[in-house]
Amino acid sequence: MNKIIIEGNNILSGEISISGAKNSAVALVPASLLSDDIVEIDNIPNITDIDALNEILKYLGAKVKRDGSLMTIDSTNIKNKEIPESISSKLRASYYFMSSLLGKFKHVEMYFPGGCSIGARPIDQTLKGFRALGATVIEEGNKFIIDAEELVGGNVTLDVPSVGATINTILASVKAKGRTVINNAAKEPEIVNVATFLNQMGANIKGAGTSKIIINGVEKLGKCYSEVIPDRIEAGTYIVAGALAGDKLKISNIIPEHVGALLSKLKEIGVDMEVGEDYVVVSKTDNLKPVRIKTLGYPGFATDLQQIITPLLATCNGKSVLEETIYENRFQNVPYLNDMGANIEINGRKIFINGPTTFKGATVKATDLRAGACLVIAGLAAEGKTTITNVEYVLRGYENIIEKLTNVGAKLKMEEE
Ligand code: EPU
Repeated sequence: MNKIIIEGNNILSGEISISGAKNSAVALVPASLLSDDIVEIDNIPNITDIDALNEILKYLGAKVKRDGSLMTIDSTNIKNKEIPESISSKLRASYYFMSSLLGKFKHVEMYFPGGCSIGARPIDQTLKGFRALGATVIEEGNKFIIDAEELVGGNVTLDVPSVGATINTILASVKAKGRTVINNAAKEPEIVNVATFLNQMGANIKGAGTSKIIINGVEKLGKCYSEVIPDRIEAGTYIVAGALAGDKLKISNIIPEHVGALLSKLKEIGVDMEVGEDYVVVSKTDNLKPVRIKTLGYPGFATDLQQIITPLLATCNGKSVLEETIYENRFQNVPYLNDMGANIEINGRKIFINGPTTFKGATVKATDLRAGACLVIAGLAAEGKTTITNVEYVLRGYENIIEKLTNVGAKLKMEEE
């Protein structure tokens, strides 16, 4: 286990360039095995979730080469093997292998996926998508045996616009016979990235980014070179860090539209920002106003930025209200922020943040990925020393976080616990 130690209250200025999106890359890598040829994916972030997916690809017999952010995957000779639970339980995205293997071999045996424990996170909608294509699903404890003599396009209306279920249904249906329609699909940019990637291989997917996606099955998928979009959650994290401790901190290589809901809230709060074509420049601002936020699917305010914005809301003059509608257990950062001097009450799915707070360093624990990132940015703004334990969670989703922050003036290091 590692810990991050931060000497807080230093001004952040200079430039942070954003890496490829974790939640796109973790879908593109498993999706690559649907190709009958070699696939190149660029802008892959160097994070431990990608290492875990690589381990699965290699276990299945794929040849994987990494050269900086370029990943070349040759899965022409892979075997359809049961992925050990010890690997698939490392991350949520392992279940993109469920759909890719089903799409390729019409049969898959896999365990319930892992992921941050921020709520129940069922996979019923993914299974609903598979069944709509004619597959049968047998559940044996937490193991799933999914089988289809033939996958045939069908119609599925998701009960909730789930990102994972939308991507899984796309992956299982690209090579199915005929036309599949997904209604009430999730609209996140990562879904558009997955559809673009598959279309570059020769798939026929229309409507990604809207709530109705149409997939016309094709027989073969070929070679392609594709790129991962910039990580909107990493971007949002550093933008909020800039709002807490920045002096003209530039966050570059972003698609501002992808963080539109965040930028709109920051404006409402009164944060000093300049938004360019592919960057944001942000500075710490005094006399911020409290605000109400409710998390929603894209293009609403992202749940993944909910914990991230909380330390900033704590510095506003007055009471902010934040409502989490996606996950049941995504306030595990709150007691630790209170240890650092915040005054936040949890009431069911809402938190009431009573500002203003001056953060003070403390020893705190990362309970999940975004909770860990939230504590890092609170630590950057805090007086004195903050120690964050359990930071393996943070390394799952943030490329070179220590270097990126050190380069803009933060004082922090990572040590073994
Ligand atoms: N849901 C169901 N049934 C399902 C699937 C989801 O009821 O079969 C519910 C979930 O319980 C949740 C909601 O639908 O309440 C949304 O879940 P979704 O399936 O959209 O989430 P996910 O695909 O499991 C991805 C990201 C998450 C991000 C969400 C929402 C990956 C690997 N993970 O999860 O990212 O919070 O979409 O945008 O792409 C993170 O990066 O920190 C993270 C947790």
